[in-house]
Amino acid sequence: MGWLVTLTLILCTCHAEAAAEEDRSRQPERLSSLTEELLRIAREPDFLGWLRSVRRRIHENPELAFQEFNTSQLVRSELDSLGIQYTWPVAETGVVGSIGSGSQPWFGLRADMDALPIQEMVEWEHKSKNKGRMHACGHDAHVAMLLGAAKLLKLKMPI
Ligand SMILES: *[C@@H]1O[C@H](CO)[C@@H](O)[C@H](O)[C@H]1NC(C)=O
Repeated sequence: MGWLVTLTLILCTCHAEAAAEEDRSRQPERLSSLTEELLRIAREPDFLGWLRSVRRRIHENPELAFQEFNTSQLVRSELDSLGIQYTWPVAETGVVGSIGSGSQPWFGLRADMDALPIQEMVEWEHKSKNKGRMHACGHDAHVAMLLGAAKLLKLKMPI
């Protein structure tokens, strides 16, 4: 299952890149100005600071699969702040947010939010507070990136 999902994501990415490549040749100004605008917002110190704080809070509070109650709460509270509607719970702790008018085309972005049964051995200020649990596989960053994408989409999508 994990492998299938990973493969699907990679294929989707390749397809999206191919589509973006086509778009670039057809509508060079439109795509590049949107891309530049998104990059400009993403590089703003406030945006970066917020994204980093989300990642660190998730890193400090790792939870195992199907037990991500606090992580789910954190995600929902960020979505509330962004004014993004969501369905919850999906498969115990999952959250499905939606942005836009609901008319096609639709596309989906996803991030896993579970941590691993591993003890974090590095001493640093954002070390895992849960003994024997660690975001050692990057899901803290994945969830933060998805919330970042949600924030950018919410800013730029027509309602
Ligand atoms: C979840 O949050 C509650 C309230 O802050 C805390 O007491 C509990 O330890 C947290 N659970 C985990 C697994 O982090």
